[in-house]
Amino acid sequence: MQHIRSEPIPNNVDLESAPGLVRAMSHWQSRFKSWWMERGPSGFQSHEVYLRTAVSVEPDGWARYEHVRMPEYRWGIFLAPSVRERTIGFGDMQGKPVWEEPPEEHRDTLRWLIAMQGDAEPASVEQQRLLGSTCPSLYDLRNLLQVNVEEARHLWGMSYLLLRYFGTEGWNAAEELLDRSSGDTQRPRVLDAFNAPVRDWLHFFMYTAFTDRVGKVQLQAAAESAFDPLARTARFMATEEAHHLFVGETGVGRVLQRTAELMKASPNGSASEAGGIDLPVIQRYLNLWYSLTMDLFGAEMSRKAGAIFASGVKGRPKEAMFEDHCERNRTLRVESWDAAAHTLQHQDVPVRLAMNEVLRGLFTLDCRGVVERWNKVLASQGLQERLQLPSRRFHRQQGLLSSGRFAPDGTPVSEEEWARRKDEWLPTEADEVAVRHVQARAVLARGEMANWIAPPSRGIHGKPLDFEYVRTET
Ligand SMILES: [Fe+2]
Ligand SMILES: [Fe+2]
Repeated sequence: MQHIRSEPIPNNVDLESAPGLVRAMSHWQSRFKSWWMERGPSGFQSHEVYLRTAVSVEPDGWARYEHVRMPEYRWGIFLAPSVRERTIGFGDMQGKPVWEEPPEEHRDTLRWLIAMQGDAEPASVEQQRLLGSTCPSLYDLRNLLQVNVEEARHLWGMSYLLLRYFGTEGWNAAEELLDRSSGDTQRPRVLDAFNAPVRDWLHFFMYTAFTDRVGKVQLQAAAESAFDPLARTARFMATEEAHHLFVGETGVGRVLQRTAELMKASPNGSASEAGGIDLPVIQRYLNLWYSLTMDLFGAEMSRKAGAIFASGVKGRPKEAMFEDHCERNRTLRVESWDAAAHTLQHQDVPVRLAMNEVLRGLFTLDCRGVVERWNKVLASQGLQERLQLPSRRFHRQQGLLSSGRFAPDGTPVSEEEWARRKDEWLPTEADEVAVRHVQARAVLARGEMANWIAPPSRGIHGKPLDFEYVRTET
């Protein structure tokens, strides 16, 4: 194997003052580089890509945009500036000073939380690794690769915390982030949703619209943590994450726009006959990704989630917006499916035990806004059709609703009806074949766009649409 030289690691955490940590990170860095070449984006590794690199945490000017080959990307460790005399904002320890080191009693929980977040970052890169070969334009290829290098930087952020603050167990956990692999039969990624490949660009846009949005909500919750290094790491990661959500939301929006244009132009009103993607297919992809990502928040009732909130380990997104930061008294209505009685049940659960549900609710609100904006695209094209966000009950694999069957509007359905109608509601093999068919060819000429997607309204960082976002000649 090629010997990889360990280089100084860009950082704003005064890494140089801790030689032991520099050694640990350099070792991890060389393993990371092997991982990137083996399980990172397939192809385009020797091409120059117009990438954004985090170089500081200044609000105006934290990023540099330039052409760079991905293996030479300067992955670094950046934490948002510390807030002076910051205190814990919620739970039983509210008002107490935040922690600079993990307290002994919360060490295992913090390490677990950081490793869970850390596992999702490289998993997404692995899931998306084949998409470059079918990209609809250089602009989209660049965005895919941008998302990939930044997810890898998030992996760096989590590994840094593990290596710096969690001793031998942290070292092992950081190694495991590189040992596990999406879809591997022996050592898969921790959560199921991160073990299936993202097979086409419609899946990719839905993934970045929904799965990355779960990431955003979880990062915002971690940004409230009493463990200040985690809070600061998460705050800066959320800055980058915004672009991933933009890629997903505008990606689906552009598909909708093109679908509408093709429907209007085609004699039968069919987008697929004109080389596009039909609206019902887009709706089924939406149903799939929304339901898959709803499961990522965990059990509706969870003592562990309650303890994590009470202790200050993880809060709620924008905790300051909530009236009650302790949540000792309030309850939340939680829905479940009683399979024996074939009926829905409701119970009022202490908010503390329902923290996963609180986060899931915030996510749903956010997703409603996304679907509304997608529907504006359809309305602006003069179409009557609209996309719908499915009910939270639909197609759940985890939790209190998972034993039931529900239509996308939330109506309970029998097992027979589900079997009969699920192809109306979730992507079928024929849908995926059709999507892959229109996306079969990569479009790599400057300024050109595949037929199934509209061009974006503007380029990246003020560059024109025909800019050479990826230098495919080099
Ligand atoms: Fe990320
Ligand atoms: Fe992301």
